[in-house]
Parts: sequence; C-alpha cells; structure tokens
Amino acid sequence: MNSLPNVLRIDPASRRVFLDARDPAFYGAPNATYAALHEHCPTFYWEEQKQWFFTGYDQVNMLLRDRRFGRQILHITSREELGLPEPEAHLQNFDLAERHSLLEIEPPEHTRLRTLVNRAFVSRHIERLRPEIAALAERLIDGFERDGKTELLSSFADIIPVTLIGRMIGIPDEMGPQLLAWSHDYVGMYMFKRSRADEDAADRAAQEFAAYVRGLITERRREPRDDLLSHMIHTEHKGQLLTEDELVSTTIVLLNAGHEATVHQIGNSVRVILDSGLDPAALFRDEATTERTVEETLRICAPVHIFQRYALEDVEIDGVSLKRGDKVSLILAAANLDPTKFTAPLEFQPDRQEAPNLSFGAGIHFCIGAPLARLELNTALPILFRRLPGLRIADIPRVKDVYHFHGLERLDLAW
Ligand code: HEM
Repeated sequence: MNSLPNVLRIDPASRRVFLDARDPAFYGAPNATYAALHEHCPTFYWEEQKQWFFTGYDQVNMLLRDRRFGRQILHITSREELGLPEPEAHLQNFDLAERHSLLEIEPPEHTRLRTLVNRAFVSRHIERLRPEIAALAERLIDGFERDGKTELLSSFADIIPVTLIGRMIGIPDEMGPQLLAWSHDYVGMYMFKRSRADEDAADRAAQEFAAYVRGLITERRREPRDDLLSHMIHTEHKGQLLTEDELVSTTIVLLNAGHEATVHQIGNSVRVILDSGLDPAALFRDEATTERTVEETLRICAPVHIFQRYALEDVEIDGVSLKRGDKVSLILAAANLDPTKFTAPLEFQPDRQEAPNLSFGAGIHFCIGAPLARLELNTALPILFRRLPGLRIADIPRVKDVYHFHGLERLDLAW
C-alpha cells in the first residue's frame, strides 16, 4: 500500500522528478511519494507536468498568501504579452462559466464577489444547518441500516453535500442527481491529462448548467425567496449589483466546489478511521474529539491535492527563478505531511496538537465553504458510526483515477 511507484525518479541535484500521475501506485497511495519528496526534494520540477511544485508546509502556506502570486494573470496583462494560446472554441461555455468564478479571479473583482456571498457562509449562519444535516444523515441510514451492507458513496456521501448546497442556493432537492452529473463532467477539466472527450463533456455540462441557472435567476427576479440566489440577485456592493454572468459563474462554482470535495472527504474520512483500527466511539466521544478526528482525516487524506498560482511578477522562491506568467503548483496534501511540522506525519493521530492542516487553503482564496464542509463532516460522521457499530470495510477500496483529486471509486461497507 505504501510502496513507491516504480516510475518515481527523484534527482535531488537538479531537483527534477519523473512521476506518472496516472500510475495507480502513485494516485492510489500518494502519501508514500510525498514522504519521499519531503526527504529528498520538497521543491521540485515535475518533468511530466513541466512545472515547479512545492510541498513544504511553510512554503505552501506562504505562497497561498503571497500577493506576488495569483489564481489569474489576465487582469494585469494580455495573452499576447505572455504568449498564451487563444481560448479554444470547443471550451467556450466552460470558459464563460469560469470567467467570474471566485476561484479564477483576483482583486478587485474577487473582493467584490466574495464579499457578496461571504455572509451566507460564515460559521454562525452555517451552524443553523446542523439539525438539517443530522436529519438527512439519519434518514439516509434508515434506508440501508437493515441491509447489513452499503456502498457508502452512492447511498450517503454523494447525497448530503449536494442536497445542502442546493438548498442553500435555492435549488429543489429533486435536481440533486442532475447537479451531480453536471458537476462531475465539469470538474473533469481540472484533472491532469484530460482527453478531448473530457473537455467536450465539461463544455456541454457548463452550457446546460448555465442555462438551468439562468432560468432560476429569471424565476427569483420575479419572485424572490429566502435563499442565497435571491440574496445574490438583490444585494449590492458599493452600489453595484451582480451581472447575470457573475451570478451564473458564482452559482456554478458554489455548487461544484460545494459538494465534489466534500463527497470525496466523507469517503476518505470513513476509510482512514476504519483503517486506523481505533475505536470510533472514542474518536467521536464529544464535539472536541470529533473535531480533532475530522481535522486529522483532512490532514492525512485530503480530497483536493493541488492548487495552482501564476507568478504576477518575476520572483525567486526557494532558489527557483520564476518569470511573470509562470505557473506553479502547491501540493496542499503534501504540505500536511511535512516532517518538520508533524511528528510521524504518515500516522493517523487524532490527538496531535500541531500545525493546522492546509486542506482548505489559506489567504484570500481560503475555502469559503470550509465552515459548511466541516459542519457536514462533524455532524454526519458521528451519526454514521453511532448508528452502525461494527462498521467494517467489505471490499478493498479503489482510489479514482482523477489526480489531483483524491477520492474513492466505491466504499463497500458491512456491519
Ligand atoms: C472537504 C471539503 C472541501 C475542501 C477540502 C475544499 C478546499 C478548498 C481549497 C483548498 C480552496 C482554495 C483554493 C485556492 O487557494 O486556490 C477552496 C476554495 C473554495 N471553496 Fe472549497 N473545499 C471544500 C468544500 C467546499 C464547500 C462545501 C464549498 C461550498 C460553498 C466550497 C466552496 C469553495 C469556493 C467558492 C472556493 C473559492 C474561494 C475563493 O477563491 O475565494 N468548498 N476550497
């Protein structure tokens, strides 16, 4: 399980690394590779990806906050100046949906959009959803408890996050399966080594998703409700309303980011806990132990491993000279295993009191949904383990071939 992929080659002198991201030995258990990188070469040039990668905790933490780096660069320069290719026609719907995505923009546009949605996501608002999450988790377990077995992703993990974020935005529960399908195709664009078919599927999903959201916007303009979409339509920031394209982008990013990672993380957390052999009753004894358990699963088995940044100016980091426009990658999941920050980093130790994990990022793009994701995990997991004592893994879980996400194909459980 923890052996290194055959293809991994690290040359510490040149800081060059050869590693196939599609090798199951890597994406199936990446922590072993991350440990080797920490040992030999925490900052490295990944030959296959043609980019510099950072794994050190302090470096990743600093780069996420460093304003000389951004998620976007076209706000300060042009494609021509950077020699970037023109946008591709077959991705026009996807590009339009991304155009105003919080994840893809920088201040001042980012500040304006983020301020408008932020209020809905602060912890004290989110906390009110606890009974709703608990009721949904209980109801889902009612549906399979007597079977003595379940495939947890489809019966539980897939349903909770999409239902919650859908309800917050103001989308009926029945749309859940369709939202999952769109979102699944859409995030295919973020995978390493995507194919033309992945791109076409993402563009189609963006087109259909946007059309649906536009319809919903028309309804809410006519008849506002007490939901986030109505709030976004009618709230102003410094006298300005959101444009329709901004509303569509923001809704799509909230829906996608709002469930994909959380679905993976429910599966990852359950697997880590069951693999650890520790007693779930003790891990979830009270709110404090529950929080520590959930944070430790986020540290050791995060759902999204990599986020990228553009250098907005020429800059040198850890001896690497970057030119304005260069892209770098930050491996959050590896930063969580930095041996200078965590003792025995590959071990699941929920009582550790060390650095906070970086799984939700840091700086201005810090995950806006972190309070929601944490509440879902902290509420649903204790219920699952309390309702199904004797829970065990019934079949070896396989990790999805969708690096740089990290989630399971299926999680077959029995009790
Ligand atoms: C375990 C679950 C989740 C994880 C691990 C996660 C992780 C992250 C990370 C690392 C970022 C920062 C990206 C960067 O710096 O480039 C981010 C941003 C974001 N996340 Fe999450 N996320 C999760 C759940 C959610 C949920 C439930 C929502 C629902 C609203 C959400 C919405 C967003 C949005 C909108 C952004 C962009 C924020 C910005 O750029 O200002 N995420 N997430």
